[in-house]
Amino acid sequence: MRVARLESEDDFEGWRLAARAFASEGVAPSDIVWQVGDGAVDLFAGEAAGVAGGHARIAPLRVTREFLDLARDAVLHSEPERFSLLYTLLLRLLAQPQALQDRADALVRRIEGLARNVRRDSHKMHAFVRFRELADQDGPRFIAWFEPEHHILRANAGFFVDRFTNMRWSILTPRGSLHWDGMALAEGPPATRADAPGDDPVESVWKAYYSAIFNPARVMPQAMLKEMPRKYWKNMPETALVPQLIAGARKRELEMIEQARSAPERGKGSGRGQIRGQVGGPEALVLLAGEAEGCQRCPLWKPATQTVFGEGPHDAEIMIVGEQPGDQEDLAGRPFVGPAGAVFDRAMAQVGIDRTRAYITNAVKHFKFEPRGKRRIHARPNTGEIEACRWWIDQERAIVRPRLVIAMGATAARSLTGRPVTVGQERGRPVALPDGTPCWITIHPSYLLRLPPDADAEAEFARYVADIRSAVESLAEAA
Ligand code: URA
Repeated sequence: MRVARLESEDDFEGWRLAARAFASEGVAPSDIVWQVGDGAVDLFAGEAAGVAGGHARIAPLRVTREFLDLARDAVLHSEPERFSLLYTLLLRLLAQPQALQDRADALVRRIEGLARNVRRDSHKMHAFVRFRELADQDGPRFIAWFEPEHHILRANAGFFVDRFTNMRWSILTPRGSLHWDGMALAEGPPATRADAPGDDPVESVWKAYYSAIFNPARVMPQAMLKEMPRKYWKNMPETALVPQLIAGARKRELEMIEQARSAPERGKGSGRGQIRGQVGGPEALVLLAGEAEGCQRCPLWKPATQTVFGEGPHDAEIMIVGEQPGDQEDLAGRPFVGPAGAVFDRAMAQVGIDRTRAYITNAVKHFKFEPRGKRRIHARPNTGEIEACRWWIDQERAIVRPRLVIAMGATAARSLTGRPVTVGQERGRPVALPDGTPCWITIHPSYLLRLPPDADAEAEFARYVADIRSAVESLAEAA
């Protein structure tokens, strides 16, 4: 029997080194015991002693990046057999390099399931960690309590450091803790819920936000449970409001219908500011974007790198909606920063608007693509995906309350109007959205990148600029 002792439950490097050494010797999976040690790095105790630390020459083994990515996720699962299952799959891949493509294979499916659970757990952590504010002699400190199902804490440290770089925070979990002081990250021991503080002012921001965006017309307890499993409810201040919100839902729904009927004409009265005030301005958008990071409303979240949320002032007068992030947007996490974004920027410059004055977003918030070799080729979102993502656009519009929306392309137009749109027939003039906001439809800038060689590219670009200009000038006329 051979023993591989790993440093920690998430020790992917330890597993990789041990697996490579065992595989090069042809050790059978049933002859290995995988142990998570108490800190000692002794990967090859027992018969394999002496191999660890690179003393022996181990032939490099060729595996695909796809397998490594899968293994990196699956290793974080709490399933005790995961190291052995991954080693079994590794041996199979060395004999049959295409084995991972056999999605019907029980072992491949099992390991993909482990990796999927881990990714889901990370998404939940991004979306559902809630900080409570404490003060110490150095100022505010934010503490969150979270109960991950898998060993994902360390793997997600970078996400929270990037997002909350300027805050001092700690995330406490039963599997360990992370502490960021604004400069350095430290790991600490497991914690209990009693170590985390209770109610505080930060919670009140969440509660105000959540009750403001809560749309009683959409109360669907089953869907809420799916998006926000009950397990996490106890750590989330806003969920304390859910029973009361559901109870009052029908009443509020009727009130909303009534309000909509009697609302002052859009853009001319106090209605806009009033609703914006209730929803909570800039914090509401930040919180909404945070929430969208964990979005799994449709399957597009899985292969995408990240949610690409809208950006721009919380009270922008103009909202511009594209189709979905492209390859570069998916990597950068910002809308319209790739080739289509360059065309869009050029058009905005010609109209004379600084793009940072508008709120820019997409109908679909995850990049949909088909892999082709190393490239990821854009694929059009389908109606189900557009519908699933519409929830986010509705929230963005409810918070920003733009006086004007510009839909670039058929997907954006469909998402906003709720019906199929032929851009060529409806471009360059406003259509009223159900709440009365004027929506101007134009082409998507990527259309200009795909024009056939005999097309008059300059004239097409000028027409695109003219569409945006007419929309913007309509604002001045309405003012
Ligand atoms: N195309 C879009 O529709 N949106 C982007 O953000 C980038 C390209």
